[in-house]
Amino acid sequence: MVSDTGTAQHEQHILECWHQNAEPWTDAIRNAEIASRVLATNQAVEAAVLATRPGSVLDVGCGEGWLVRRMLALGIPARGLDVIPALVDSANAQGGEFAVASYEDIAAGRVAWQADTVSCNFALIGEESTAQLLRGVHRLLHPGGHFVVQTLHPVEACGQMPYQDGWRQGSWDGFSQRFVNAAPWYFRTLESWRALFAACGLRLVSEHWPVHPRTGRPASVVFVAVVADA
Ligand SMILES: C[S@@+](CC[C@H](N)C(=O)[O-])C[C@H]1O[C@@H](n2cnc3c(N)ncnc32)[C@H](O)[C@@H]1O
Repeated sequence: MVSDTGTAQHEQHILECWHQNAEPWTDAIRNAEIASRVLATNQAVEAAVLATRPGSVLDVGCGEGWLVRRMLALGIPARGLDVIPALVDSANAQGGEFAVASYEDIAAGRVAWQADTVSCNFALIGEESTAQLLRGVHRLLHPGGHFVVQTLHPVEACGQMPYQDGWRQGSWDGFSQRFVNAAPWYFRTLESWRALFAACGLRLVSEHWPVHPRTGRPASVVFVAVVADA
């Protein structure tokens, strides 16, 4: 575990890390280098989004934009937001509409885009930044809209560490040698995730645990939420 005292530094490190790794990340996604994505989690998030029957999708923390392009290919209007300009540029270069925005921008009401379904795929990494997006996501949703989050499965991602919330050391193990400066990430138990949704005014309507076909273990957890008083 890494120190909890430097939350602001950890959040800063996460942003620096994505600035530095935008290019290898784009290549890793476009060359299908991450087996769990190809085998399980890409399909899981796509299915969860489609199950909400969206007339439009907004993908936040969209990276190089694959999920937006997938939605467009299915005929669903979709756009993406990410905090890293190099990733947004790389997404825009493939077609589609992408803009630079952070979760803080969303929470502060600085983003005007809205959609029926907002997705967030493996992009909730920090502590306060995650809470910011969950608190602010209602601003991005059309009335009655859905929020779909896919993230690491806490029980699987916990490893030998205590099963309790806290900052964890990051690693690029299993990724290409081009990745640098792994950032810490904030671990939440399943109970903490569920409590955070509720505390941010979101009501969970479903929770899926996609299974990795090779290991037979959960590959992730997918939460689907709506605005609680909607
Ligand atoms: C693991 S990548 C996932 C990218 C994409 N969702 C996908 O499925 O390929 C994490 C993404 O979260 C974005 N991100 C991290 N912190 C963010 C923040 N505070 N605001 C907006 N985007 C953020 C990063 O820039 C990066 O693109």
